[in-house]
Amino acid sequence: SRCLILLLLWAISEVKCSIQEQSDIKRTDFPNGFLFGAATSAYQIEGAFLEDGKGLSNWDAYCRITGSIADGRNGDVADDHYHRYMEDIEIMHSLGLTAYRLSISWSRILPRGRLGEVNQVAVMFYNKIIDNLLLRGIEPFVTIYHFEHPQEFEERFGGWLSPLMQDEYVHFAKTCFENFGDRVKYWITINEPNLFSELAYERASYPPARCSPPFGNCASGNSDVEPLISAHNMLLGHAKAAKLYREQFKSKVDGLLGITVSAFMYVPLTDSEDDKEAAERALAFNSAWTLDPVVFGDYPPEMKRYHGSELPTFSSEERDLLRDSIDFIGINHYGSLYAKDCIHSSCICNDSSCTPGGDRAIRGFVYQTGVRNGVFIGDPTGMVRFFVVPRGMEEMVHYIKERYHNKPMLVTENGYSSPPSEYDDYRHDVKRIRFHQSYLAYLAQAIRKGADVRGYFIWSLMDNFEWSSGFRTKFGIYHIDSLTLNRIPKLSARWYRDFLTNSSHFD
Ligand code: NOJ
Repeated sequence: SRCLILLLLWAISEVKCSIQEQSDIKRTDFPNGFLFGAATSAYQIEGAFLEDGKGLSNWDAYCRITGSIADGRNGDVADDHYHRYMEDIEIMHSLGLTAYRLSISWSRILPRGRLGEVNQVAVMFYNKIIDNLLLRGIEPFVTIYHFEHPQEFEERFGGWLSPLMQDEYVHFAKTCFENFGDRVKYWITINEPNLFSELAYERASYPPARCSPPFGNCASGNSDVEPLISAHNMLLGHAKAAKLYREQFKSKVDGLLGITVSAFMYVPLTDSEDDKEAAERALAFNSAWTLDPVVFGDYPPEMKRYHGSELPTFSSEERDLLRDSIDFIGINHYGSLYAKDCIHSSCICNDSSCTPGGDRAIRGFVYQTGVRNGVFIGDPTGMVRFFVVPRGMEEMVHYIKERYHNKPMLVTENGYSSPPSEYDDYRHDVKRIRFHQSYLAYLAQAIRKGADVRGYFIWSLMDNFEWSSGFRTKFGIYHIDSLTLNRIPKLSARWYRDFLTNSSHFD
């Protein structure tokens, strides 16, 4: 009978879990002090692309190349946050956010990099944002580099392909610490070095739009080591900035510094040992590509094994600099993909989420796909490789927890973009609400099982310029009217507000 009772208790807890997964996730399911925020980035929302001394950025230039952006648009005006930041901060306050993740525009602060002066008007702009957030009890999480830099770096020395970019980056980071480090406690050095390097140097969909084999249809590409070099320079730039921060600025506010990674979860396509290994390899080549160096001081063993001498190496001083150079891990998690081994079997690719021949350069002979036997891994969204797989949140957090000995983590991005068939969902975005509820439920479960996760940020506060997809892909919980640029809350904004304010125990 004791067995029966246990079985009954187990069944009840299972039912409870599946119910919670649907809709009854509450703020009180998270630890006290857990931060709930929303995230944006400068180029995606600010606009004012040439105002008050801002210089041209890599994206300003790229958007002007015909065919580079799906809807032919650009971030010249974007959400006009540059002029409407006060309204946006009021919105955050009305939602009850306790944190907001923003990024600083490099081409606004240092239009000419080390060659020029700090743009004081830009400093004032970010000061006003930071001060007003703090006034309302909203903790600013500042990303120093979010895909955007002065275009002249590309022309002068080849951007992230050159080690000179490391010194430029350190100068920029120092400028940010000097001007904002007396109030900002949480810094994210670089957003998604892994995804940026892939999209800018392998898939040719972010500037400078270079490609590597097997993406052979772009004229400018030449070598499949470029993504590796770009990430290498980003990692070293990060490590130098982190050292500087710890030595000169951290103590001012007892600040914490981290990095964010694009963290797709990978699931083996079949039960074969080869595919299981491929999924492990895909994870190592994806999130661990960035995280192993900043935690352990070197690239993942899996990458070293498959790349051999192609993979750039760190000197022993560089390894010392990199090791333990973060206080927290920022996880940008959206979905899961299947991984198929392409070493022992041939990979023929027939859907747009995979790479013909297996993705050698940055995924170690793994073919990734969202489809198995004609069935999607989860609901498709407005983004090609983003499928809705809520349990992937728990799996991803678990993977990072285990690999990095439960270093503090924050989910720095998680969000839903509607597929084209749901473009009219902007007021009644039930699917977005379900998305957040179910991902949050799995996040809460990961925390209950011991993961040290300290915060969660919705991507994004408002619809914005989704890089090469333009404005058609919408992640926001606020809709932006295209004519008036008015901010209109979607149902998801109301849900988030209720989720955040209906709790009793939270301070
Ligand atoms: C990753 C990036 O950090 C952000 O800029 C982008 O808009 C979202 N994820 C959605 O793709």
